[in-house]
This record gives sequence, structure tokens and C-alpha cells, in this order.
Amino acid sequence: MAAFDFNEFEETAAPQGAAQLAVAVVEPIPGVRLDLEERLGPGVSGFETIESVLPRLLGSPTVVVLGPSCSDADVLSSVERTLSSRPDVGVVLVADELSTTVLQLALRSGVKDVLTLQGDTLQIVEAIERVGSGLRADAGIAAMPGAPLATGGEGAELGRVTTVFSTKGGSGKSVIATNLAVVLAERSEAPVVLVDADLQFGDVAVMMKLAPTHTVVDAVSNIERLDTSLLESLLATHEPSGLRVLPAPLEPAFADQIGANDMVKIIELLQRFCAHVIIDTPAYFNDVVLGLVEVSDDVLLVAGMDIPNIKNVKIGLQTLRLLNTPMEKLRLILNRANSKVKLDIGGVERTLQVSAEALVPSDVVVPQSVNKGVPFVLSHPKSGVAKSIRSLADTLNEEDAEVRRRRG
Ligand SMILES: Nc1ncnc2c1ncn2[C@@H]1O[C@H](COP(=O)(O)OP(=O)(O)OP(=O)(O)O)[C@@H](O)[C@H]1O
Ligand SMILES: [Mg+2]
Repeated sequence: MAAFDFNEFEETAAPQGAAQLAVAVVEPIPGVRLDLEERLGPGVSGFETIESVLPRLLGSPTVVVLGPSCSDADVLSSVERTLSSRPDVGVVLVADELSTTVLQLALRSGVKDVLTLQGDTLQIVEAIERVGSGLRADAGIAAMPGAPLATGGEGAELGRVTTVFSTKGGSGKSVIATNLAVVLAERSEAPVVLVDADLQFGDVAVMMKLAPTHTVVDAVSNIERLDTSLLESLLATHEPSGLRVLPAPLEPAFADQIGANDMVKIIELLQRFCAHVIIDTPAYFNDVVLGLVEVSDDVLLVAGMDIPNIKNVKIGLQTLRLLNTPMEKLRLILNRANSKVKLDIGGVERTLQVSAEALVPSDVVVPQSVNKGVPFVLSHPKSGVAKSIRSLADTLNEEDAEVRRRRG
């Protein structure tokens, strides 16, 4: 498979301004090394040890692919020692199996992504390209052509952060967050990311039929060394829309390990390379939610059309006011707004003293799409409920454009 068309290591100088990516495979067992080299295609050089790669590095961005024999603590710590001061080099590990121990060990040693030898070669190629493009950005070499957002340099435009919140469980936060994020991802050239900050019971991955390898726990356990390229390598991809997803922990117990500062740091890094960061939340205030509300440009407050919902949202609004949350950030979203429930929208707006930004109708396609794991904006694009989400996305994009215009 001709995966790469990279410079040979023998090249003496990288072309100015458009350095190409070099790829080196490091694996002491010759048969395994050759197999990996062949899988990755021409232009890939093989080495027995990480030390032997060092003299061959020429300053152009290089991705080192460690073979399975490099998964132990000694080799990984020598990789860390050898490459920690080399912003032009990124490391990917191809392990025999993906255990939590190997993953943690590797990420702590500065490895940007871990894949399995048995896995699809395309996934390894994609990981190399991802890590390689991060190197170009970090090293200040030309960013990918056509990317509308810079990847975090001084003065780069930051992505818009939208938190979807409600003080009532089951009001529709997750379906609104996932469908809104999918619409924004389809419209945007730059990445759009959905973060599941319902750390105990998040179900975004299930709603999108994703089987994630990494979650927010992996980002937090590497928080000290977390940068945009490591964080990007931890995101899952929803293939039908291109939406990137940072899923909630797989076990509720992990939620305790995640603090508000960690989540805020993650969001601020995501903003550097994503046009939109959409955040799904649990149905209660905690320090994580408060931190997220603070860094958000928009807070979508979701209310269902029944009295307990409205009562809870009123209490939520009062709490946000007490916490000095700027009211301009808050947008009321009335869910199941067409239900024949004898609650009139004007009355609800008067009670809450906020006018509704979006009315999302009740529709049987919503639970159907949740059960199928396909967002309804994709499975039923013509439904009224999909239209309401698209017009909500229009509003956010218009707001964003307006803010950018005002900033000049
Ligand atoms: N507009 C709608 N029409 C029909 N059903 C809806 C609508 N909105 C939400 N639902 C249904 O309500 C259920 C709860 O929605 P969702 O999981 O998005 O709520 P949530 O606020 O995220 O809940 P939790 O607080 O438990 O996280 C979903 O399974 C969905 O099927
Ligand atoms: Mg939810």
C-alpha cells in the first residue's frame, strides 16, 4: 500500500515553508519492523532503536512509529528522554494490544496515539497524518492549506463554545446537543467537537453509535502534558458527519477524578482548533458545570413543556443570575414545544422572563433516532424537529459571525 510520499531520510534539507513529513518505524524485531514498513508504504525508514533515529533527524517534521516491542516502560522512558525536547518529532505506538496500562504508560511518555498491530492500516496512517499536522502547527511551519482556523498560535481565532444545560433531567439536552453539533459539523470546514460533560451518565457515544477507545479520562490523566495534538488524537470521529467527540468516562466512578480546571483547560485547547465546541451536561449544577458556563459564549437552557420543568428551569435561571452569569449568554430552548399539553409558550416566557430562542417540536422520530444511534438531523432531515435544530445552528453561526465582525 503506497500510503506516503514522504522525503527519504537521506534528504539533506527540507523545502522552505512547506516541510514534508518523514516517517520512521522503530522496532528491534526485523520481521515485525519490515512488516510495518511495508504496510505504511514507500518513503518510510526502519530503525532498530530510538537512539539510532536521532542522528538522522533533519529538523523537518517526523513521525516515529514505535513497534510492539517498544511498549514497555524502559523503552518508552528512553523515547521520552530522547525526544522530549524535539517539537519537530511526534510519536505513535503500534502495540500488540490496547490495555489501559500500555495506554497510560505511552501517553505519559509523550506518545501522541496508540493503535493496535492487528488493526486497520488506514487507522495507523490517519494517526500519523494527524500527529504530523500537529507538528507542523507546533513548529510554526505552514498550517494545512484551506484550514480556516489557525491551530492555537498567538492571535488565532478561537472557536465558539456552547453549553447545553437544564436543571431538569430528561428535558432533551443530549438529543439537542448531539443534533446541533452534527449540523454545525456538516456546515463547517474546520473541526467541530462535542464534549460529553455528563461525567457520570453521559450517553452521547451511545446516541451516536460510537465505540470510543479514548474518553475524557485519558485527557485528564495527561492534563499536565496535554496539547492540541495529543487532545485531537483522543477524539472519536462520527464518520457520517465528521463531528469529533470527546466521550464521557465509561465508568461513573471516574467522574470524581475530573475537576472543573481540567475541563476548562480541555475546552480552551479544543477552542484553538475547532470552530465550535458543543458541551452536553448533567441535570444539576456542580463545579464542572459552573466552570463550563463561565467559559461558554452561549448557554442553551433547555426546558420541557410541563410545570415541573418550568419550575426547575426558573430555579436554574435564578441560580445563574446569583452567580453573575451574563444574561446575554443565556438562550431558552423550549423542547416538545408543540405538544398538546395546554401550556402556552408566551406564558412560559413570561414566567421565566426570557424569550425563547428556539422551539423544538415533539416528534416520534426523536426516540426512534436515539434508539437507532443515528441523529435525527441525518435520519429525518425533513422533519420539523430537524428544521428547528438547523435554525438554531443558523442563529449560533450568525451570532458568531457578528461577534467576529465587531472584533474586526
Ligand atoms: N422533541 C422531542 N420529541 C420527542 N422525544 C424527545 C424530544 N426531546 C427528547 N425526547 C426524548 O426524551 C428522552 C430524553 O432526552 P435526552 O436524553 O436528550 O434528555 P437529557 O436532558 O439529556 O436527559 P438526562 O438529564 O438524563 O441526561 C430521549 O430518549 C428522547 O427520546
Ligand atoms: Mg443527557
